[in-house]
Amino acid sequence: MLNYRKKILVAVDGSAVSDKAVYEAIWMAGCSKGAFPNKVYAVFAKVVHSDDYLDMFPPSTGPVGGEEDSRWEEIIDQVFLVARKLAAENGVDLETRVVPGPPAESIIRLAKEIDADVIVIGSTGKGRVVRSLLGSVSTEVMNKAPCSVYLVRA
Ligand SMILES: Nc1ncnc2c1ncn2[C@@H]1O[C@H](COP(=O)(O)OP(=O)(O)O)[C@@H](O)[C@H]1O
Ligand SMILES: [Mg+2]
Repeated sequence: MLNYRKKILVAVDGSAVSDKAVYEAIWMAGCSKGAFPNKVYAVFAKVVHSDDYLDMFPPSTGPVGGEEDSRWEEIIDQVFLVARKLAAENGVDLETRVVPGPPAESIIRLAKEIDADVIVIGSTGKGRVVRSLLGSVSTEVMNKAPCSVYLVRA
């Protein structure tokens, strides 16, 4: 018999595009409930000393640093906020995971570990380069994923 219970892995980085990816992942999961509830795994790869979170804090506090930086807790809460809200509102089973960087490698490792059916990912993310092409994380995930990839366009 076909396995109707899908494991949907959505990659989140706190950007508007990744919020859109979360929305689509929850929508996808919510389409089949009842006897076959799907499960969404939201994954955030914590890249220490990244410039991506500069916009969340006053410039005077400096860029976000290593593991010891107390602001990580707030960043992680923010990054999963939309997923937690949408999952609760739609009765979708959600598990959040924080993994170490580099992002594409860790997303792929988790997809293999949980045996994901599909990875949902944004075309671009928090990077400050304005582009219409894919970002580096989405490109690497598309190239190396062990399963189908659903690319959410900006
Ligand atoms: N640190 C991360 N953890 C989890 N997912 C990520 C991370 N960085 C990027 N992603 C995923 O990859 C998508 C594309 O981001 P990315 O390739 O980094 O483009 P950009 O260069 O514009 O930031 C995001 O919308 C998100 O779904
Ligand atoms: Mg990025």
